[in-house]
Amino acid sequence: MVRLDVEQTISELTLGEKIALTAGVDFWHTAAVHRLNIPSLRLSDGPNGVRGTRFFNGIPAACFPCATALGATWDTELLDDVGRLMADEAIAKGCHVVLGPTINIQRSPLGGRGFESFSEDGILSGTLAGHYSKGMQEKGVGATLKHFVCNDQEHERLAVDSIVTQRALREIYLLPFQVAMRICRSACIMTAYNKVNGTHVSENKEILGDILRKEWGWDGLVMSDWFGTYSTSEAINAGLDLEMPGKTRWRGDVLAHAVSSNKVAEFVLDSRVRNVLNLINYLDPLGIPEGAPEKGLNREQDHALLRRAAAESVVLLKNQDNILPLKKDKPILVIGPNAKLAAYCGGGSASLLPYYTVTPFEGVSAASQAPVEFSQGVYSHKDLPLLGPLLKAADGKPGFSFRVFNEPPTEANRGAVDELHLVASVGFLMDYVNPKIKSMTFYVDMEGYFTPEEDGLYDFGVTVVGTGKLLIDDEVIVDNTKNQQRGSAFFGNGTIEEKGAKYLQAGCTYKIVLQFGTAPTSDLDNRGIVAFGPGGFRFGAARRVNQEDLIAHAVEQASRAEQVVLFAGLTMEWETEGYDRDHMNLPPGSDELITRVLTANPNTVIVNQSGTPVTMPWAHNAKAILQAWFGGNECGNGIADVLYGDVNPSAKLPLTFPVRLQDNPSYVNFRSERGRVLYGEDVYVGYRFYEKIERDPLFSFGYGLSYTTFARSNISINTVPEKPTLPHQPEGTITEPITTTLTVTNTGPVAGSEIAQLWILPPPTNSVNRPVRELKGFTKVFLQSGESKEVQIVVDKKVATSWWDEQRGAWASESGIYRVEVTGTGKEVLKGIFEVEKTRYWVGL
Ligand code: BGC
Repeated sequence: MVRLDVEQTISELTLGEKIALTAGVDFWHTAAVHRLNIPSLRLSDGPNGVRGTRFFNGIPAACFPCATALGATWDTELLDDVGRLMADEAIAKGCHVVLGPTINIQRSPLGGRGFESFSEDGILSGTLAGHYSKGMQEKGVGATLKHFVCNDQEHERLAVDSIVTQRALREIYLLPFQVAMRICRSACIMTAYNKVNGTHVSENKEILGDILRKEWGWDGLVMSDWFGTYSTSEAINAGLDLEMPGKTRWRGDVLAHAVSSNKVAEFVLDSRVRNVLNLINYLDPLGIPEGAPEKGLNREQDHALLRRAAAESVVLLKNQDNILPLKKDKPILVIGPNAKLAAYCGGGSASLLPYYTVTPFEGVSAASQAPVEFSQGVYSHKDLPLLGPLLKAADGKPGFSFRVFNEPPTEANRGAVDELHLVASVGFLMDYVNPKIKSMTFYVDMEGYFTPEEDGLYDFGVTVVGTGKLLIDDEVIVDNTKNQQRGSAFFGNGTIEEKGAKYLQAGCTYKIVLQFGTAPTSDLDNRGIVAFGPGGFRFGAARRVNQEDLIAHAVEQASRAEQVVLFAGLTMEWETEGYDRDHMNLPPGSDELITRVLTANPNTVIVNQSGTPVTMPWAHNAKAILQAWFGGNECGNGIADVLYGDVNPSAKLPLTFPVRLQDNPSYVNFRSERGRVLYGEDVYVGYRFYEKIERDPLFSFGYGLSYTTFARSNISINTVPEKPTLPHQPEGTITEPITTTLTVTNTGPVAGSEIAQLWILPPPTNSVNRPVRELKGFTKVFLQSGESKEVQIVVDKKVATSWWDEQRGAWASESGIYRVEVTGTGKEVLKGIFEVEKTRYWVGL
């Protein structure tokens, strides 16, 4: 790449070239203008790994724990490391920009993408996102804060109007973006799909122009979410630099027309182009050539970081009678639907093909020095488990053949235009490219051989964006071609899973064929749905089982076992993009299994894996509970490290776990109704609500236990003299620090990390209703048993004290005595005070 003289280049570009630069050319690349040495950039999802340019049949990648897992670590240094490794992964895949981190707010436990954002709290989320971006950008790769702003649910995400007060917008939803940018100005921002207070964000002048550009002084590149541009002039004029993906729908000739009719002034178009060229210059040192090949790194040292991240994220919620850590030299029974399943990541655009995965069962088996037994208990899949890995292709390789045709199966003498070998029987073809395909309508025959190990009735399921027919030895078992019904798969574009069944005999080999037709062959009404490319398919199967028998068997085994661990939870089918969960419960059967196993063996350790909260009606009966998440490649090892005490858990919840969904403040206002969702809880999101109304959640924000104990002492608080007006602060600095110093002591038997959390309580004289207290800072410290360390938490006075005054359109830091609380593991609260002498108002970053 070549450093560009931006102004000179703008003066030399033709109108057509300028317009071309403001839109993608395909799913993952921007336009090039080679005559002026302007290269194309490659963008990739994000946020928990770098998938590269192929959603379908991609190159494997490192998968990091999901953001709520990283949120639970409260570990800024870890996030720096995560950002750096993410950058290495991006460079290996020839990517200049990563589409992450995601920093929306979990208003409700049901949000389908809740797992993708760090926390319900803007300070925690923004701080971690800032470090993630800093680590990444230190290595030259651009970070993208997304989705700006109020994309906090999936239901009707393109159309919904998030109705939110200016105060909540500032104090809750914009806050993580603001905080992240104070630490590191991300190279890019991705706009949200939704409207905020009546206008789509991608054409919202107030949000993109007034707040982001003017008030925050941010000069990076604003891109739309994929197919989240909805206008030509409005979006360009509001400040949307780049329409993604290509080919353009809104720019091209339409934009030329808008410029020639002066709906868009050329100097405005130049500003959009300027931001694209500045980004190219910013990324220039990377030296990634256009069309760079995509490689996987999969390095030994990276496995260690991924394992550290997985283990550091596991939250110890209960540990009565010190049941944990488990003993490696004692036999163990492993039960449950998530034991032999690698719930490594959530679903949707965050998902990727991992280098490898480690299931909890494999993690426990690798750590244990004694026999490990297994009992399924129940299954938790939403759709039938993928059949692909159980198939063999004609040449005996695991998987199946994938043969692409321009003509339907009814056409004799058709010839395949491509043949691939696949293992996973799920694929979203959005970025599948094949020059021999004549139109969006094409057909694929997938063929493999299945030899069941057990006799029985087998269920088969087919989910498609398009049409699909599953045949066994040429007999149609599932027909998903007619009377199709919309489901939640493929970002809400797919059908429900259509099912059929057939009795199969152990040892016999059956030919399985899926005849797939792309999206245009479907009879689903696709109005209002974003068409992500030519379509998608998924087929699965399972032997029909009697759940009662499975549970009874697990219960019987548990009653005899010395050590038992039960893995339950969700998967990428339950928590995914394009779809919010219908309820907060575990999949059917899981609660019953847990309850009955706990009765049979009260010392059973329960491990829940989910990206967001679930109900735990059995929590009071369980002595030991761990909250694990979608833990990335090393998920199973990370959990085993905590179970056996190789890692002392230090994580704290980044989200409140309510007892019931009804307790959640957004309960009456979640989902789109007549095109809008009212953010009726205002600033009382998450812990701010539970503390205000004094309702105990099941487990609070910031809560988590350890295998050791900690004491906090010697608090002192120092402030610097106030300046007459609150100053603007450059990136990475604090201009009016409040420094809280305290001593943390490890008073227990083992080494471990403690997270000190600093909360600020507003003065009672404050002129508006405010949360009881708000998190304003935190720090993490590692201590040997018996060791003490002095730690400091430094916060900025204006950030720590202000609320958003809607009348003035400014942050208000009101005079008065503010109380400080420092919490951590255990109930002890250290208290202090500081004073704001003079009321001041400010705007800016
Ligand atoms: C998601 C974005 C993602 C993009 C590209 C969209 O559906 O909302 O987060 O970056 O797709 O995959």
